[in-house]
Amino acid sequence: MTPKTFKIKSFGCQMNVYDGERMAELLADHGMAPAPDGEDAELVVLNTCHIREKAAEKAYSDVGRLRRDDGSKPIVALAGCVAQAEGAEAKRRSSLIDIVVGPQAYHRLPDMVVQASKGARPVDTDMPAISKFDALPPRRKAAPSAFLSIQEGCDKFCTYCVVPYTRGAEISRPWDHVLTEAQSLVEAGARELVLLGQNVNAWTDGERGLAELIRAIARIDGLERIRYTTSHPADMTDALIAAHAEVDKLMPYLHLPVQSGSDRILRAMNRSHTTETYLAVIEKMRQARSDIALSGDFIVGFPGETDEDFEATLRIVDAVGYAAAYSFKYSARPGTPAATMEDQIAREIMDERLQELQNRINAHQLAFNQSKVGCDTQVLIERRGKLHGQMIGRSPWLQSVHVETPAQPGDIIDITLVAAGPNSMSGAVRAKEAA
Ligand code: SAH
Ligand code: SF4
Ligand code: F3S
Repeated sequence: MTPKTFKIKSFGCQMNVYDGERMAELLADHGMAPAPDGEDAELVVLNTCHIREKAAEKAYSDVGRLRRDDGSKPIVALAGCVAQAEGAEAKRRSSLIDIVVGPQAYHRLPDMVVQASKGARPVDTDMPAISKFDALPPRRKAAPSAFLSIQEGCDKFCTYCVVPYTRGAEISRPWDHVLTEAQSLVEAGARELVLLGQNVNAWTDGERGLAELIRAIARIDGLERIRYTTSHPADMTDALIAAHAEVDKLMPYLHLPVQSGSDRILRAMNRSHTTETYLAVIEKMRQARSDIALSGDFIVGFPGETDEDFEATLRIVDAVGYAAAYSFKYSARPGTPAATMEDQIAREIMDERLQELQNRINAHQLAFNQSKVGCDTQVLIERRGKLHGQMIGRSPWLQSVHVETPAQPGDIIDITLVAAGPNSMSGAVRAKEAA
């Protein structure tokens, strides 16, 4: 019997979340329904992340927890980047896993579910030339802020990173496909589109790059906001920077990971930029759009990182003054060049450095939020807050804003930012000015 209900759990980056949404639509198209809250699903899809050891191990502990008290279990599909990295090995590691499906093959999931319900244990980690996107149903549902994958894979091969192996070579979805999906997401209710790619600013179709694509998407009626993530510093073109100055719908926020403030470490990471070229991009961006909010990613404890290297990371955090940033302890990943480098850093040192870096980042984040108090701006309402009558939305700078309002998800309302916390802001509705 093929299952009638499913549950999908996505871990990892926004692209995984997007993939999870697409898998849900696909299963629904094949007659399955999401399991009601609190009820066991007959099919469970774990959409996993391989980026750090902790994330990958979580996949297996979650699989283990799917066995029910009476010894029965749902059909279990391991999807995402752990599935890609481990392939058939995953079935040997856990007898509970029925299906192994990689991120480029999930359009075949409904077929694999049928096979599994007949007792087979199919594995598909192909990266087919025909894009999975062509085999997916059209978009019918969209959140106020909707994800849209436009580029996948990575050719950069940073020495610590598994993405080039789990997601394959860089590919861009064609211009027409992206615009069609963008249009249907807006028709389905999206007011904001977040264009996604592991190296989204390397998106290209012939002569056209991300800057042209953003300008075309900005012409869609009913769409109010555009964001994109994640960008690589080496692919920040002048055309894209200029778009920030000229396209009103493009939000003043840029996630531009630098990873380290030490050029020696950046070289060992194979990052193909230096601190100087990175800071030059930031400078140009600020000239194009003076209120741009910047965010980044950092790795502490990369092999060979000295106290001086780490100090340089703290200095670049101060120099940029990030509005937000994500920092991670280096995690040695099987098959990556950095995993076998000498001078792996002790866990205690990584812990200390991470703590210090996070304190520094938090201070900048709070300062950024405080600098916006008193500012008249708009928020896109996304969901209900905890308190009665309270809604939560996003400012142009991606701050989470709490506001008391009868407005509903999808509304964009005028507010004044009245108070700042480390992780969110409070806003007050602005009365409509008399005409
Ligand atoms: N393509 C993006 C993001 C890749 S993964 C980019 O190049 O910036 C998201 C973040 O995870 C990375 O920016 C990096 O900071 C972190 N990361 C990747 N591999 C890691 C590893 N082996 N250990 C710790 N952090 C890692
Ligand atoms: Fe990983 Fe580097 Fe590619 Fe980002 S650019 S996905 S960190 S290899
Ligand atoms: Fe994780 Fe794969 Fe994304 S490894 S970060 S889910 S591309």
